[in-house]
Amino acid sequence: MSQKNILITGAAGFIGSHVARLFVNKYPEYNIFNFDLLTYAGNLENVKDIEAAANYRFIKGDICDLETLRYVFKKYDITHVIHLAAESHVDRSIENPFVFIETNVMGTANLLQAAREHWDNETDDHLFYHVSTDEVYGALGETGFFTEETKYDPHSPYSASKASSDHMVRAFGDTYGMPVMISNCSNNYGPFHFPEKLIPLFINNIIQKKSLPVYGDGLYTRDWLYVIDHATAIDAAFHNGKVGDTYNIGGFNEWKNIDLVKLLCSIMDSKLDRTQGESEQLITYIKDRPGHDRRYAIDATKINKELGWYPSVTFEEGLEKTIDWYLTNSEWLEHVTSGDYRKYYKKMYG
Ligand code: NAD
Ligand code: TYD
Repeated sequence: MSQKNILITGAAGFIGSHVARLFVNKYPEYNIFNFDLLTYAGNLENVKDIEAAANYRFIKGDICDLETLRYVFKKYDITHVIHLAAESHVDRSIENPFVFIETNVMGTANLLQAAREHWDNETDDHLFYHVSTDEVYGALGETGFFTEETKYDPHSPYSASKASSDHMVRAFGDTYGMPVMISNCSNNYGPFHFPEKLIPLFINNIIQKKSLPVYGDGLYTRDWLYVIDHATAIDAAFHNGKVGDTYNIGGFNEWKNIDLVKLLCSIMDSKLDRTQGESEQLITYIKDRPGHDRRYAIDATKINKELGWYPSVTFEEGLEKTIDWYLTNSEWLEHVTSGDYRKYYKKMYG
């Protein structure tokens, strides 16, 4: 088998850092290149433990810059891509959709083009693996699940840009015969999650005794997966999935936001030696997010049956690990919440 030189885009971000860590440690024979622009969401502290590994290299670059991508593909003879670089927060996409279109749509198209040019119709031992979201499928009512056959119906600028990037990946597969694969995962949580998303934002606010801003009636449902389980699912599909196929990734773990927030408050009260019920007092219902999808739920039967992949932790275990990580990594939290984060927070929540 030939040398695998894998470009992981967005590996200084939340999920990408876990994927890079898994691949660097599990496959010392692969060369792993972390290609990341280090936007507000990218942080080299997330990959500190692997930075000295012999099979790892960081390259600062923008997926919107085709010339740089061409240079990188050639210089390092990239044979595989695991594409995670993206703008990823729905609320920011509502504030400014254009950066989402630029990064998620144009950036993905650039990456596909650079891979197509360098691979020159080679398909053996080459793969463009695109990491996407369940949000492309839109919103569910009280029942039902998203399967790989569910029609795309995105509602936010974020999900529309991700849907568009998925279409572009399939188009390059169908038109140019490129070896592509896509996975659509449910909401992730775990260490290194930037505190603008629900779980890390609320952990940070509970620590600081700040209010917990619940959108609308709090009865919106999300399907949560521990980030390391997402990384192992990507590993399974990357190595054993069928080229051209799509895999939905999730752990059949639906929670209404308000129930999740109450569980979080209760665990945090115990960890912080506070009276049970204290953190719940911080819950504040605020104006709803426009276009807010009511419910997401992934049917993960295909990846369970075909690839034998299952999550390794229950939600309660994963949440406790996550809280412990945030409590022991207060320095990381302080670093990422300084500077621009404060401006963002003020703009969003007053
Ligand atoms: P994140 O926002 O934490 O990280 C994104 C990374 O991409 C950052 O390191 C950032 O610096 C980098 N980046 C942004 N623009 C770039 C550009 N132009 N060029 C190079 N790098 C750039 O995101 P995340 O939560 O880790 O999500 C990673 C991927 O997984 C995204 O594609 C997202 O759509 C998808 N996804 C996320 C979730 C979730 O719950 N977070 C669920 C399913 C799928
Ligand atoms: P989020 O973590 O932003 O992920 P996504 O919108 O991609 O699912 O939000 C998860 C849920 O939590 C979603 O229903 C919106 C809600 N939410 C709040 O109620 N308050 C908040 O401050 C945030 C960030 C999210």
